Amino acid sequence: MFNVIIFGPPGSGKGTQSANIVKKYQLKHISTGDLLRSEIANGTKLGLQAKKVMDEGKLVSDDIIMGMIDSVFINNPDVKGFLFDGFPRTTAQAESLDDLLHRQKSSVKVVLAMNVGEEELMKRLIHRGKTSGRSDDVNPQIIKARIKEYHDKTEVVLSHYKKENKVVPIEGEGTKEDIFEKINTALDKH
Ligand code: AP5
Ligand code: MG
Repeated sequence: MFNVIIFGPPGSGKGTQSANIVKKYQLKHISTGDLLRSEIANGTKLGLQAKKVMDEGKLVSDDIIMGMIDSVFINNPDVKGFLFDGFPRTTAQAESLDDLLHRQKSSVKVVLAMNVGEEELMKRLIHRGKTSGRSDDVNPQIIKARIKEYHDKTEVVLSHYKKENKVVPIEGEGTKEDIFEKINTALDKH
């Protein structure tokens, strides 16, 4: 299996680039943020629990996230590989993912680490907040809380994959097309 992680702070273009990557490399896209928003839209108990936390810009518990990932694995036994977007976000999630993949005699192949400055992140998300309907995009304080949560809990996940030489830094500012080119170059090497 060809498993890829697209990693980066809120607004760094994970979702935007994922759409292109899954088309070209025929991977199954897993965005834990999208999965959570669909639970919320369906009014499930899990969605209700998650919404409170997401509206504060905080991370949802590892148990909830790993439960969702387990279901995706069970429901997609025959894929060529997964593209994980916005997951794993804690070292515990990264370790659980390693275990899950290991049981399938597979592993994470590449981590694309999107680098975008904080000013640009704020600009993009405030702009998207005007139309996205995402409650965590509307208030600049919540956007800042999401970025802080990234620095406090998520950035450290990179060390987990750096130890295994899997991280490829991608300059994430510029046109969406140029950034996709850089991602292609990185993935084609694998
Ligand atoms: P999630 O949905 O993952 O959101 P996020 O990480 O905050 O990031 P975004 O989706 O906002 O940004 P993105 O990097 O995908 O960028 P995008 O392509 O959209 O998570 C939401 C919440 O769910 C979390 O806060 C947490 O509560 C919870 N959660 C999710 N996963 C979790 C996990 N594993 N563990 C615990 N909790 C979890 O682009 C952003 C904007 O910029 C768009 O408008 C886009 O058009 C624009 N843009 C993109 N590229 C460019 C470019 N090159 N130039 C100009 N504009 C650009
Ligand atoms: Mg996203």
